[in-house]
Amino acid sequence: MKPFIKSIVLENDKLLIIDQRFLPHEEKIIELKDERDVFEAISTLAVRGAPAIGITAAYGVYISLLKNKNLDKTQFKQKAIDIIQYLKKSRPTAYDLFYALYRMEKIIEGEKNVSDWLLDLKKEALKIHNEDLERSERISINGLNVIPYGAKILTHCNTGGLATGGNGTALSIVFKAFQEKRDIFVYVDETRPLLQGARLTAWELFRVGVPCKLICDSMAAYLMAKGWIDLVLVGADRIALNGDFANKIGTYSLAVLAHYHGIPFYTVAPYSTFDFNIDNGDSIPIEERNPSEVKRFGNCVTAPESVDAYNPAFDVTPHRLLTGIITEAGIIYPPFKENILALNREKENGFN
Ligand code: MRU
Repeated sequence: MKPFIKSIVLENDKLLIIDQRFLPHEEKIIELKDERDVFEAISTLAVRGAPAIGITAAYGVYISLLKNKNLDKTQFKQKAIDIIQYLKKSRPTAYDLFYALYRMEKIIEGEKNVSDWLLDLKKEALKIHNEDLERSERISINGLNVIPYGAKILTHCNTGGLATGGNGTALSIVFKAFQEKRDIFVYVDETRPLLQGARLTAWELFRVGVPCKLICDSMAAYLMAKGWIDLVLVGADRIALNGDFANKIGTYSLAVLAHYHGIPFYTVAPYSTFDFNIDNGDSIPIEERNPSEVKRFGNCVTAPESVDAYNPAFDVTPHRLLTGIITEAGIIYPPFKENILALNREKENGFN
């Protein structure tokens, strides 16, 4: 399935992204010219979603180093290391960022001349992007197995083409089921505070024509109690060895609600989101964003300026609330730790 959106493009060595801060009002393309632009785009959510962050960072390393092609070998290598370390600080939770930067780091190991290094860095960034596109397609095919005809699906945040190099993670399954005429219907959580569901997921579904309705996050329990939700599909920003996973704040509440109502609850993620170094979700770093985001609805201030607010961007869902993890390699069911380790053994790149 061809991607419906190209949210990140390397064109004539220019890194172009759709600036997601302007959606759904404007489809604005911006160019990221160096590591500072890339850092700013990732940290302000101009580009967001775990795989998309990783892909952008990988291209970011390449385009920033292109500007340093006149350095000698030693200086160039040091510059590459500095840029990679700098970009690692742009956001803490999504593992895909560290996965992609680790792969770029590997390229810079050893000795080469600068032009060969640049060529290899470009190739690796394109490969990371392409692999994500292919993974997205395989995820959508595997995910079809859990979508009954006529399914009513609840989703949270944005896990579509904007968030990945292909058609998405959770949302790629929705698109595939729609194309396969499964007669699905999607309920879209608006996803406070930054409204990725309302602004981005509703926009993506609407463009493709997938039947959907937007709801406030607080409405999910009511819909479940009515029997209107057959399954929940969400993404992930980092998955620990035991299957605990971090995703957009509000995901954990949905998992508890789905468990109570006996509704299947799946997270959907590629290999690049699995952190094989941590045993459980307690070790996942959770980003805390500016409290002012909670005191606003879009550009409109909705709370007294001086009131305190708390703004964790992610929460951790314990694996016991999960029905399964849908990946490009198949669906992982309990026992999660054993089956996640098996996934790692099968994989490439000597990562970890
Ligand atoms: O803060 P965001 O918008 O980057 O958070 C994104 C999410 O939580 C997504 O669900 C996750 O990255 C999966 S993306 C395919």
